[in-house]
Amino acid sequence: MKTAVEADGLTRVHTVGGKALSSLDDVSLTVPAGEVVAVTGPSGSGKTTLLHLLGGLDRPDKGRVLLLGVDWRSLSGAALARFRRRTCGFVVQGAGLLPQATAFENVEVPLVLDRVPAGARRERVEAALESVGLAEHAAKLPDQLSGGQQQRASIARALVTGPAVVLADEPTGSLDTDTAKAVVALLLTAAREQGAALVLVTHDPVVAGHADRIVKLTSGRIT
Ligand SMILES: Nc1ncnc2c1ncn2[C@@H]1O[C@H](COP(=O)(O)OP(=O)(O)OP(=O)(O)O)[C@@H](O)[C@H]1O
Ligand SMILES: [Mg+2]
Repeated sequence: MKTAVEADGLTRVHTVGGKALSSLDDVSLTVPAGEVVAVTGPSGSGKTTLLHLLGGLDRPDKGRVLLLGVDWRSLSGAALARFRRRTCGFVVQGAGLLPQATAFENVEVPLVLDRVPAGARRERVEAALESVGLAEHAAKLPDQLSGGQQQRASIARALVTGPAVVLADEPTGSLDTDTAKAVVALLLTAAREQGAALVLVTHDPVVAGHADRIVKLTSGRIT
């Protein structure tokens, strides 16, 4: 199968108070299109750092990341932002929705930035909201949505561009168990239907159990 994302020998060093500490140490990971990988590990083990490197939000001190064969190092500025918008969908803990924008407008943002014409935009946003069960709630502001609904809106926003890679950082961290299960099931189904590679950071062993593969990080290394 086609490789969606390939990371080779990633090392990220953070210097705090003159002391250099490796947040990530020689981590390699290849995720083919359509595969679901769960990343687990204790707090501070480097999960978020890894996700940021995979999605081109941060740069490694050593190693490289290829997304659809493109090296993040070959891109910068607007070209990098555009490439990231078209290839990566991010789902973060707490949903990260714009508070003044409706569910519809939140999901529409990446398409507006990509100058998708209004008619096509409406169709795609409606389909994405429908697929996460939010068709009836399109006009609501985030604070008029439940936590699970907010999280589903953020999944719709991550998937509306048809990304090759979906990067989810503890998307269910703030939800009760049943809602978390439903949200993760939705994320897995949606990613699988679109043939996207999904890298899912989670503390929950039950959630990790639904992945095709589990990668465990300990102190910045795969164990
Ligand atoms: N900008 C930064 N400056 C200094 N240290 C950092 C920075 N970002 C991350 N770190 C350190 O890197 C290590 C890994 O952090 P990271 O956020 O990746 O952990 P995590 O596995 O996501 O943890 P959690 O489960 O708590 O979210 C931690 O020790 C953290 O303190
Ligand atoms: Mg984290």
